[in-house]
Amino acid sequence: PRDASRAGHDVLVTAGPTREPIDPARVLTNPSTGTMGYALAEAAAARGASVTLVTGPTALSPPPDVEVVSVETAEEMNEAVQARRTDADYVFMAAAVADYAPADPSTSKRKKTDDDRVLHLRRTPDILQTLGEHKQPGQVLVGFALETDDLLDNARRKRDEKNLDWVVVNDPTEDGAGFGASTNRVTLLRPDGATENLPRMPKAEVAEALLDRVLAARHEQST
Ligand code: C5P
Repeated sequence: PRDASRAGHDVLVTAGPTREPIDPARVLTNPSTGTMGYALAEAAAARGASVTLVTGPTALSPPPDVEVVSVETAEEMNEAVQARRTDADYVFMAAAVADYAPADPSTSKRKKTDDDRVLHLRRTPDILQTLGEHKQPGQVLVGFALETDDLLDNARRKRDEKNLDWVVVNDPTEDGAGFGASTNRVTLLRPDGATENLPRMPKAEVAEALLDRVLAARHEQST
């Protein structure tokens, strides 16, 4: 049998924020730096997987031996991901996708006035939800949940609603975890419903620990 610690497979990873234009000079975005997703892509490639990284705008260098697809908006990320979903044995959806985008982005810069203004926002596609609806036999979907309240209840609901296998839960209000930090402290919600708290560690080590577990679990399923 295949060595379970090696990912001789197709791995799709998303990372970073999305950037939703308001007008040519302004965007809606979030503080994601892409660190967790880039670490996962790099670790999977180092284990021999064929890795595609679909990334929103970040300041990070492309990881070695990874095919990088750069996108800006949630809509573009959705197209890039759905076009590649059938080939992926594993999907790690680490991107912080905007849930809303300006409904009517202006092609010219909106002039400021002294009045307050209202921005009409529209829901973006839920990329992971669509992946869950089209899940391939044997495909493993890993979602990330950044929650500040009722962490595990929300993670379980998310897993069921989106037909996910694993959810990686992090609390952005905790020190040394979540957005921008070089370390992370996550709780894994496993396919069998069990949870595991990982200690605080560098995101590269979180990536290795996550790959160890996700690859081993799929290996058990298939033997
Ligand atoms: O429901 P929530 O947005 O908290 O779920 C987070 C997970 O869903 C993350 O894995 C994120 O990448 C993914 N997501 C997505 N498309 C969206 C919003 C979130 O794939 N529009």
